[in-house]
Amino acid sequence: MSDRLFIFDTTLRDGEQVPGCQLNTVEKIQVAKQLEQLGVDVIEAGFPISSPGDFNSVIEISKAVTWPTICALTRAVEKDIDVAAESLKYAKHKRIHTGIGTSDSHIKYKFNSNRDEIIERAVAAVKYAKKYVEDVEFYAEDAGRTDNEYLARVIEAVIKAGATVVNIPDTTGYCLPAEYGDKIKYLIEHVDNIDKAIISTHCHNDLGMATANTLSGVLNGARQVEVTINGIGERAGNTSLEEIAMILKCHKYLDIETNINTTKIYPTSRMVSSLMNMPVQPNKAIVGRNAFAHSSGIHQDGVLKNVDTYEIMNPKDVGLDDNSIVLTARSGRAALKYRLGVLGVNIANEKKIDDIYQNFLKLADKKKEITDDDVLMLAGADRAEAH
Ligand code: KIV
Ligand code: ZN
Repeated sequence: MSDRLFIFDTTLRDGEQVPGCQLNTVEKIQVAKQLEQLGVDVIEAGFPISSPGDFNSVIEISKAVTWPTICALTRAVEKDIDVAAESLKYAKHKRIHTGIGTSDSHIKYKFNSNRDEIIERAVAAVKYAKKYVEDVEFYAEDAGRTDNEYLARVIEAVIKAGATVVNIPDTTGYCLPAEYGDKIKYLIEHVDNIDKAIISTHCHNDLGMATANTLSGVLNGARQVEVTINGIGERAGNTSLEEIAMILKCHKYLDIETNINTTKIYPTSRMVSSLMNMPVQPNKAIVGRNAFAHSSGIHQDGVLKNVDTYEIMNPKDVGLDDNSIVLTARSGRAALKYRLGVLGVNIANEKKIDDIYQNFLKLADKKKEITDDDVLMLAGADRAEAH
């Protein structure tokens, strides 16, 4: 039987805290419902103590969405936990996500504290949250830069206090993939009763390694991943949901399954991008405009013969209608002939195709992209006639 990987989506918390990405409650409900359709297991709906708007959104999302667990973030502070518990009162499945910084830098500069005291505060927060909910996730902020021996002590203590999920954030996106994977492995090998909790990854993308680090964590035993749509999030963002979901789909032999309905990926990406006013870079893996676009002649020729030559996934699997053959100065005759065929202009005479192709190259040198109208004009047909 395959291993099940839980998908924890934090688009509405870590993603939404990005300047300019703020959503109102109605928009957040729209995104939450879409995430439910997508099949995420947990929706981190907000940080309720941070503002009345966040508090209210967690309440409304809890009412609107029933299948996923609704999660609310807190610091290791009783007041935060009281407010989070109140905001989750309508949730069918609820989780409080509490935690504290564990790296030397956080302990010294953020808390002016020491290692033992941080463990006491972590344990107290988990126990306090347990009074409200059964499902308590603990995050060791900046775990990426926390030494493994101390991190193991913290994690052992919070599991003993009742944490059901232990989150190991690479808050600053600092770790190398092997280093992050080793961290997860170390915890599995050194923490008593580690099997009583699910280990979660939470990786930031400051050095462009969020997805690689998350995958490395999973391959070493983590069974929850914290991700966002389009990889949005603090600074350079978080691990993107679509990348992890498609990596596991494309590498079936890993035998790790998620509940994600991948055909909902593209519509979800579009929705988040447009509501948050956050464009997706054209070359973004899976959901970028060019992710399934073939533009060079050699590639186009290959794809037209058999898509397997240059496509490792079917665009339909991510909710796109089809790949696209973009006509540029680097396109070959095959792509031009194919496009004409799609437009209803079938030309058998190779000499005619050749003539059109020469004119096409002249035009393509002047324009970045050749449109369907250009192609029809070159072939001497107009749109109405072609269809
Ligand atoms: O990056 C981080 O450490 C976080 C925690 C609050 C989970 O977002
Ligand atoms: Zn984060």
